[in-house]
Amino acid sequence: MGPAVLILLSLVAGAAVVASRTGVAVRVIRTIDQRGGLFAPRGARLYAKVAPRILRGLYRRVADDLVVRVGSHPSPTIVDLGSGPGELAIELARRLPAARVIGVDPAPAMRDAAARAAMLAGVATAAFVHGEAGAIPLPDASADFLVSTLSMHHWPDPAAALREIARVLRPGGEALIYDARFVTYGDGELRRYAAHAGIDDRTVAREVLPWGLARPYALVTMR
Ligand SMILES: C[S@@+](CC[C@H](N)C(=O)[O-])C[C@H]1O[C@@H](n2cnc3c(N)ncnc32)[C@H](O)[C@@H]1O
Repeated sequence: MGPAVLILLSLVAGAAVVASRTGVAVRVIRTIDQRGGLFAPRGARLYAKVAPRILRGLYRRVADDLVVRVGSHPSPTIVDLGSGPGELAIELARRLPAARVIGVDPAPAMRDAAARAAMLAGVATAAFVHGEAGAIPLPDASADFLVSTLSMHHWPDPAAALREIARVLRPGGEALIYDARFVTYGDGELRRYAAHAGIDDRTVAREVLPWGLARPYALVTMR
């Protein structure tokens, strides 16, 4: 079986377990990550090879959304949380040359792949740093936008992540999180996580996106 099929299977399996709405599902995904999945050099390399091919449409749509949101902001700081091999961060840096783009990811192999890809693309305004959703390595009120794709189903504690995202966003800033997790988790769960995080639940919203027949993405926003 080729690497593309393996990665595709693991994405489908990931979406299926996330759909079960249990914390066990996220623990299973994290165990796979750490035992040679996305966190290991081989897994990260495979993902870095395959993701740009099968996820190009997602990255384009998300970059389109970001470009509209950024509007005439002269020099926004944009965080890509769980940036993986950096495709989206690099696309954003290309399309928004005055922006400072910071990819945050806990997996060294992913950060290495992202830094290499940025260098090959000739992009100097995107940097990739160690961190994770529950501990974003940035000062309070330092980001204008935060974006995340296909990472939230790996986060062990979504309430801690929401608290961190609220902390790093500047007043007027906005977070856009695209993932399968909130396709099945409902508004009630989002409100509960917000309450746990000590965040006003009117600042968070969830929408299942009408993309593709299977509707595989939900967008969670925070302002
Ligand atoms: C499926 S990949 C998605 C990568 C990239 N965002 C994309 O769309 O191609 C999931 C990423 O989330 C990262 N990740 C895992 N646990 C995380 C956590 N607790 N906080 C932030 N990122 C995490 C992984 O290292 C991996 O790079």
